[in-house]
Amino acid sequence: MESPLVQLKDVGFGYGPEPVLDGVDLTVGRGDYLGLIGPNGSGKTTLLKLILGTLPAPRRGEIRLFGTPAAQFKERWKIGYVAQKAASFNSGFPATVEEVVMTGLVARRGLWRVLTGEDRKAARAALEQVGMLSFKDRMIGRLSGGQQQRVFIARALVSRPELLILDEPTVGVDVQAESQFYQLIRDLRASMGLTVMLVSHDIGAVAHEVTSLACLNRRLFYHGSPDDFGTEEQLCELYGHPVRSIHHHHH
Ligand SMILES: Nc1ncnc2c1ncn2[C@@H]1O[C@H](COP(=O)(O)OP(=O)(O)OP(=O)(O)O)[C@@H](O)[C@H]1O
Ligand SMILES: [Mg+2]
Repeated sequence: MESPLVQLKDVGFGYGPEPVLDGVDLTVGRGDYLGLIGPNGSGKTTLLKLILGTLPAPRRGEIRLFGTPAAQFKERWKIGYVAQKAASFNSGFPATVEEVVMTGLVARRGLWRVLTGEDRKAARAALEQVGMLSFKDRMIGRLSGGQQQRVFIARALVSRPELLILDEPTVGVDVQAESQFYQLIRDLRASMGLTVMLVSHDIGAVAHEVTSLACLNRRLFYHGSPDDFGTEEQLCELYGHPVRSIHHHHH
């Protein structure tokens, strides 16, 4: 049987003496679509950064990526990442949309081999996938926040990753762009067999889209089918206050 793409065992982490993550076990298999929810400061972004290797190794426990211990994992291009608030370039930032997307190839091709014709083709294909090809020559800072967000999704896709990690990708995008975003993820899962980890505060939308839901608040409170995550008790435990309903309209 194939190894899971991501496997956390008893992971504990803190930036200082305070634990930010504690005893986290989490497995993401190929083809999974995991929604990660939890209140502000609950450790979601920290968890993603540990997976991406941009933080020091966890204090406790183990992280394996594609079956390999994270410290030895070298095929970083297999993981595409859209950071929280990725889209915040000011209007003077000196790069075009196409150039920003091509920076997503550095992990695969190396820094000095970026600007080949093939890379340009890959960047254009990724922009096409997110519906932003017609903006390829526009300066990145001269796009709206939601348009920049799509460009960052293209940047994450350009290396043809097997796992796409998105940290609150729909913050600040309008209702139509949000539903287009979820449609895009559905399409990518169908066409590329992409595995997806998605952080969001929009529990309703996420529960409606994902194949499994994980609720983090330093510890993992729930990990399972979104259909079984219905009781208000669990939401109360997680957020500390009642939440109306997780059910969401169909897009
Ligand atoms: N670089 C850092 N140095 C010190 N503490 C940090 C750092 N980054 C995050 N923290 C702290 O770690 C905790 C978890 O932060 P994290 O960013 O993982 O939360 P989050 O679940 O992503 O929250 P949000 O929903 O607001 O994005 C918070 O208490 C935060 O203040
Ligand atoms: Mg965060």
